[in-house]
Amino acid sequence: MTVRSPIVLDSDPGIDDAVALQYLLGTGLWDLKAYTSVGGNLPAAQTYLNARALARAMRIDADVPVHRGAGRPLTRLPYRVADDFHGPAGLGHETLPDSTAAHPAESSAQALLRLSREYEGELTVCATGPLTNVAIALLEDPAFVRRVRRFVFMGGAARVPGNITPVAEFNMWADPDAAELVLSSGIPFTMVDLDASHGWLFGPADLAVLEAAGPGTALAARLLRVYMDAYRRGGGDGTCPLHDPLAVGVCADESYVTLTEGAVVVESAAELTRGQTVFIPSAAGRIYYPESPALTARARLTGRVALGPGSRDFTQDFVAALQRWPGTDA
Ligand code: BDR
Ligand code: CA
Repeated sequence: MTVRSPIVLDSDPGIDDAVALQYLLGTGLWDLKAYTSVGGNLPAAQTYLNARALARAMRIDADVPVHRGAGRPLTRLPYRVADDFHGPAGLGHETLPDSTAAHPAESSAQALLRLSREYEGELTVCATGPLTNVAIALLEDPAFVRRVRRFVFMGGAARVPGNITPVAEFNMWADPDAAELVLSSGIPFTMVDLDASHGWLFGPADLAVLEAAGPGTALAARLLRVYMDAYRRGGGDGTCPLHDPLAVGVCADESYVTLTEGAVVVESAAELTRGQTVFIPSAAGRIYYPESPALTARARLTGRVALGPGSRDFTQDFVAALQRWPGTDA
């Protein structure tokens, strides 16, 4: 019997977050201990509702608790709404029924802390939204950093342009204070950034496979069609990047990306460069920038950063894994 490893998916669904959940389940590799929602693509109240509805649609809501994230970024005003990409309520044109599961008393951050204690040294945390929940957990108990086995997140742009401003990726921009706190905490992180996610595209031929595969992938296919259309409207070629699913994939198999060790500092003070991820490869040796005391003080060489796609075909594995989860007939 395969032993499945404990994982928490911390997510702001959102279309690519939604299909990342089905992909995670379809891999059969993980024991999903909690689905912790966070505000980001939509306000926290909406991503919580979406996460509950998705848990129901994926038929996991009896077993996997869904938690609600903080109502706002760490120190700023509410999250910006990315309905232009994800649809008015975040899940394309879907109106999925709510789960009938009870509302847990624990917040997302509290669930992360509890599970890090229950599965000390074993727990993988995969974040596919802003890092608000993870930052709150860290502020409450800095030892969280040492208890987590792996922390993989989708966010940042190490050497490529951003997607919300010329220099910032959306998740980092949405809560730069949280991102900066987490990445300078000493947590062993793996950053799955735009450098890598723009290398694994989902295109019309992949969509045709999902559409032909039957009811289990019908919801994913409808969602991805909306996402592809959004990218097309933005000037794309009819494909869409698999940002959030790729982060889930990297939790199990790093050969989907090309990783380099280093530090990442997130710009959280400036307005023009808000959320920019300043990547410092470990080849730089000790981090000492005499002209920038802030950089010298904050950069911690505890990360691995994806500088591009890897050797194993992620899109193919993603399409295959989605078909292995019964999903929904919604
Ligand atoms: C990230 O931004 C969000 O809109 C997506 O869900 C993904 O997590 C990509 O920059
Ligand atoms: Ca997301």
